Amino acid sequence: MTTQVEYRRLGKTGLRVSNPMLGGMSFGSVEWSGPWMLEEEKAFEVLKAAWDKGINTIDTANIYSNGISERIIGNFIKKYQIPRSEFVIATNCYHVVAKTPGTSTVLQPQPQDELDYDYQAAGLSRAAIFNAVDASLERLRTSYIDILQVHGYDLKTKPEETMEALHDLVESGKVRYIGASSMRTWQFALLNEIAEKRGWTKFVSMQPEYSLLYREEEREMLAYCKYNGIGVIPWAPLAGGDLCRPLGAQTPRRKVRKGTPFDKKYTEADKIIISRVEEISKKHGKKMSQVALAWVSSKITSPIVGANSVTKLEESLIQGFELTEDEVKYLEEPYVPKPVRAHAQATLGAAATLRGAKFKWMHCLLSRWNVGVSNDQIRHSSSPKVNA
Ligand SMILES: NC(=O)c1ccc[n+]([C@@H]2O[C@H](COP(=O)([O-])OP(=O)(O)OC[C@H]3O[C@@H](n4cnc5c(N)ncnc54)[C@H](OP(=O)(O)O)[C@@H]3O)[C@@H](O)[C@H]2O)c1
Repeated sequence: MTTQVEYRRLGKTGLRVSNPMLGGMSFGSVEWSGPWMLEEEKAFEVLKAAWDKGINTIDTANIYSNGISERIIGNFIKKYQIPRSEFVIATNCYHVVAKTPGTSTVLQPQPQDELDYDYQAAGLSRAAIFNAVDASLERLRTSYIDILQVHGYDLKTKPEETMEALHDLVESGKVRYIGASSMRTWQFALLNEIAEKRGWTKFVSMQPEYSLLYREEEREMLAYCKYNGIGVIPWAPLAGGDLCRPLGAQTPRRKVRKGTPFDKKYTEADKIIISRVEEISKKHGKKMSQVALAWVSSKITSPIVGANSVTKLEESLIQGFELTEDEVKYLEEPYVPKPVRAHAQATLGAAATLRGAKFKWMHCLLSRWNVGVSNDQIRHSSSPKVNA
């Protein structure tokens, strides 16, 4: 194996993860999210190229293509006889895994409401987490998950129940470390504080959205993680591809997302930042993606890159490339704070917990139109009651 990546310890743990990590969201079925998805054969090419370059860490989730992403990763490990102890698998649980690959339980809140606790299929109850982990292990064809992440904060389950279940899974050996994905900092801190008080396993990593175009986690989360020695492994470090191409370039992924809550409009500040990334990439003779990754890598443990071709994967390798302090300032300077959005799936999940269906409908519509109802507003209005 020719290593072209750097390895970093995940927070205070001794676990060595690669920088970058490979994102598994684009492995699965075109029925789930359109033509930018890679089905098994094509996914194997990217996974093999990643492994050959030294990328030892992959992030996925049970909901990606409703389990198919995990199946592809499990099949890859078996087919290429990847030594399990050298490969780090991070997966997520929380959302409903539908029975058909094309059903999006993220974009349609109904399946979540209907299936929710009736079938112990979603959320972070003890039953839901245990069922989700067993199903992920079967799909991944492995006996343990290196990092089990909760894919959001469950407003319906007592945090004690969640943290005890996660601890028991670590004790059982099915899970080695636990982490969390996008949620509010107070929620993450609350879960960790409960674990600390009870002597249970605490989170070692946080997976927030973070890039040059979305820096809201700098408000609280990154400082909380730094203070507590928690590893930060952001998703969308390339802003879903927006930081990889000059303005105006149309891509399969942008087309698919048009009109959905994931369809992000460029702000004037975004446009300036993208053009500055392009300018600096030209100056160094690098790809725009490499400039964006060099910036994010200087701030956190390791970005999770959604490379959906071998070429894009190769363009994600930045070992030895660093930006100067002045370049970092130049890239950061135009940023204007945005509404905290965590991510759209959390928006739908949180909205679903509100009693009034009217509010949920209004919120979905507003996020579709991108008129700026933020998770802040949703969660501030609902969370304290639930946790009281
Ligand atoms: N925890 C969570 O809630 C959460 C949410 C989202 C994602 N994730 C994880 O984070 C991973 C990454 O997320 P993401 O895919 O949104 O992040 P991303 O890395 O910011 O965006 C990936 C997209 O960028 C484009 N791209 C990547 N490399 C490129 C290159 N070298 N040149 C040109 N374009 C390039 C591709 O767009 P085109 O396909 O348009 O070419 C690709 O689909 C996912 O796979 C998943 O594991 C987690």
